[in-house]
Amino acid sequence: MSSDQGSSTLQDTADAGAELGPTGRPLTEFPEPPVLTSHGPARIIAMVNQKGGVGKTTSTINLGAALAEAGRRVLLVDFDPQGALSAGLGTNPHELDVTVYNVLMDRKVDIRDAIRSTDVENVDVLPANIDLSAAEVQLVNEVAREQVLERALRKVTDDYDVILIDCQPSLGLLTVNALTAAHGVIIPLICEFFALRAVALLVETIEKVQDRLNPGLQVDGVLATMYDARTLHSREVISRLVEAFGDKVFETVIKRTIKFADATVAAEPITSYAGNHAGADAYRRLAKELIARGGAP
Ligand SMILES: Nc1ncnc2c1ncn2[C@@H]1O[C@H](COP(=O)(O)OP(=O)(O)OP(=O)(O)O)[C@@H](O)[C@H]1O
Ligand SMILES: [Mg+2]
Repeated sequence: MSSDQGSSTLQDTADAGAELGPTGRPLTEFPEPPVLTSHGPARIIAMVNQKGGVGKTTSTINLGAALAEAGRRVLLVDFDPQGALSAGLGTNPHELDVTVYNVLMDRKVDIRDAIRSTDVENVDVLPANIDLSAAEVQLVNEVAREQVLERALRKVTDDYDVILIDCQPSLGLLTVNALTAAHGVIIPLICEFFALRAVALLVETIEKVQDRLNPGLQVDGVLATMYDARTLHSREVISRLVEAFGDKVFETVIKRTIKFADATVAAEPITSYAGNHAGADAYRRLAKELIARGGAP
């Protein structure tokens, strides 16, 4: 292609008035996800950031629900002793006898006995509660202690198209288990400057896991959350993210809205709690973007 043609294509895009998104790239119209005619084996994605309160759990629930709306069979793994994901889907984690903890610690426990269905069609949950906080210490003496979750999930990977693991805010052994079990990582990142600092250590951990435990692990993307278009601050954080991660930053950006907290109180994903809200559409768009990038079937 001659450079003339190249520039005229660019010109055409500009003439068509292609709207620039928060990442500074023109907004892509992602295709409708193809209809799946068969299911599994699942692609496993760890939602990781050792910083607390950046939107890991909110993104796990709502991306999961959006993928399920697109006909994907989804398992959400609560890998945080706080049990926020389980609670956010309507299970009372403290009333459960069998949780992910028992699956990890006792090989005789069948993972299928711990998995629960939810009110959201095509979404199951492997719940957690405070018991899981003991696992970190207890696993230290296990053989292949980093592969315990991977081994547990293997039994059900054929039942799902996507498995999302909601990690706790730490880079300890549980998170390393999630990174070892996963094909991909999504890094939710709140649009605040101090949040950028945590990322270097996270990337270092991911690289160590790639080196020693899981060479196939990919960074699927960095998801900017709690974006406020009115503030220069939010916009600057995104441009710094794009400088550091380039195309790895999802074009889809999640805006700050109280609706997510409201949906949590109702123990529902936003896609059902307020299905027409922009927040629901954002996670639907993220699901399409992830599928278009090959991050999910
Ligand atoms: N886009 C958003 N806009 C406004 N509030 C949000 C948004 N996303 C999440 N929140 C709220 O921010 C808080 C933290 O979100 P969330 O629990 O998803 O973060 P987290 O990374 O899982 O936290 P932790 O590290 O403690 O597990 C919650 O109260 C949630 O309702
Ligand atoms: Mg959480």
